[in-house]
Amino acid sequence: MHMQMAALTMQLFPFVPKLRPQGQSHYLNFHNKTSATCCLGNSSESEVLLSQFNPKIPIEEAVTPPTSWYTHPSFFQLELHRIFYRGWQVVGSTEQIKDPNSFFTGRLGDVEFVVCRDESGKLQAFHNVCRHHASLLASGSGHKSCFVCPYHGWTYGLNGALLKATRISGMRNFDVKDFGLVPIQVSTWGPFVLLNLEKESLPLREIGTTHVSEEWLGSCSEILSTNGIDSSLSYVCRREYTIECNWKVFCDNYLDGGYHVPYAHKSLASGLKFDSYSTTIFEKVSIQSCEGSSGESKDNYDRLGRKAIYAFIYPNFMINRYGPWMDTNLVLPLGPNKCQVVFDYYLEHSLKHDTDFIELSLQDSEKVQIEDIVLCEGVQKGLRSPAYRVGRYAPKVEQAMHHFHCLLYENLKRINSMTRHVYEFEFDACQ
Ligand code: FES
Ligand SMILES: [Fe+2]
Repeated sequence: MHMQMAALTMQLFPFVPKLRPQGQSHYLNFHNKTSATCCLGNSSESEVLLSQFNPKIPIEEAVTPPTSWYTHPSFFQLELHRIFYRGWQVVGSTEQIKDPNSFFTGRLGDVEFVVCRDESGKLQAFHNVCRHHASLLASGSGHKSCFVCPYHGWTYGLNGALLKATRISGMRNFDVKDFGLVPIQVSTWGPFVLLNLEKESLPLREIGTTHVSEEWLGSCSEILSTNGIDSSLSYVCRREYTIECNWKVFCDNYLDGGYHVPYAHKSLASGLKFDSYSTTIFEKVSIQSCEGSSGESKDNYDRLGRKAIYAFIYPNFMINRYGPWMDTNLVLPLGPNKCQVVFDYYLEHSLKHDTDFIELSLQDSEKVQIEDIVLCEGVQKGLRSPAYRVGRYAPKVEQAMHHFHCLLYENLKRINSMTRHVYEFEFDACQ
């Protein structure tokens, strides 16, 4: 009962009225707030849905998670709270915050954020919410010397400090120092910008890249680095796709070990040697690789090169390295039946002015994406059909997908850090 009251209090009054020093995010204990919302919602319903997948069953006998995991609003909420609001999450590219005073905004679940580089060049991230009446503050991306709220003009520096609160004469017990933007932990790895919403209640400190790579990539960080993934490639462009499917449908499609490629991407399949396809599983990363049929093309155009590497970083980030290219796919959950996939393209320096090659490569890539979108949207419709509830895995090719589902289970099942070791043990048993 006491816990329920505490939870309700946190939901109704997430801002602690007692004022505290600026630079610490005591005002919004986001983690508690979301836990509270979760407790007051349909958590027991979600637990039932969760229990419908058993990660202990070996892949040869296992059934896939049920359709409810891909369609149910309560399950979607559970995912936001237990997956996306915890741990390091990729939100963008360092290209977007190259210079002092550059910024970009985004949304992860219900969290509106702004990432910026302040005047001194320091990387910063904040909840993109005005402390006056909750208006969204910044929009889009670009350069700014300060953020002016479009509603009543409160103005914040790129270090989060409230520089000007308009028309507040007569207001008592108010100190601008206490109403800075609520900070979020931010870091980078290679060309990627990452946020960690879970750690925002800790005092802000510089987060080292090593620390992030350990937490985010585990033992895989070196492998990814040595395969050219964090090298300094030139940023080319971004493409965004809104897809009418659950975010996991897109991930599943990526993680089927090339199973669908000969059927759904015939032109891509002709550039790959399928007998060389392999999948390696790490803690939170899986890497699929395949040799390209390099040298067999009649002209000089060789987008795929000799080897393609497809790295999936749990929960929703893919890094594809092939030939002179790297592209990344960030799968953002927008709702139970909708996601957005953000593609960023990077290219070796020597080719960055070869506009014909770039154009042709992007066209080919786009063709594959459109083919995948059709597949994913078809699957989402099928998942809502009464004729289907669970499916099966092809054990020799869909190991990475099974690994993804086991990780989801482990992550979603984890109620708090006190029970963490129990679920890690359970998860180990399913490997
Ligand atoms: S909501 Fe931002 S100034 Fe009023
Ligand atoms: Fe595909």
